[in-house]
Amino acid sequence: MKKTALLTVAALSLVVSAGTALAAGKSGEALFKEKCAGCHPNGGNVMNPKLTLRGMRNGRIIIDKIRKGGGGMPSFDRKAISDADAKAIAAYIVKTFKK
Ligand code: HEC
Repeated sequence: MKKTALLTVAALSLVVSAGTALAAGKSGEALFKEKCAGCHPNGGNVMNPKLTLRGMRNGRIIIDKIRKGGGGMPSFDRKAISDADAKAIAAYIVKTFKK
């Protein structure tokens, strides 16, 4: 009986902490607005209008650019943008800026 109660408490706290982690993670859209939209409003490029984010299909290339930067774009390491967040941003760009 006691054991079951303890297990129930453990299971409940797992559910609660998983919920908190999800709530803390921001969407690709929110992250894009926070970290990228200053230079890439609406998928454009205020610094180099020829290199917009429109029509990009390959998330890996986007993540690579996030990590390496260059050509006036800052690079973002894993402390600035986690791998999961970089993936979320890339997915948002691919699905949002089609043309
Ligand atoms: C300070 C301005 C600035 C910020 C902030 C910025 N970028 Fe850029 N970005 C640029 C510039 C300038 C280029 C063109 C770089 C070049 O010549 O290679 C670029 C290029 C890119 C490209 C390649 C586009 C192409 O058509 O080849 C991608 C993808 C990209 N940025 C994604 C992002 C993402 C995602 C973020 C946010 C995490 C971001 N950028 C934040 C300025 C910025």
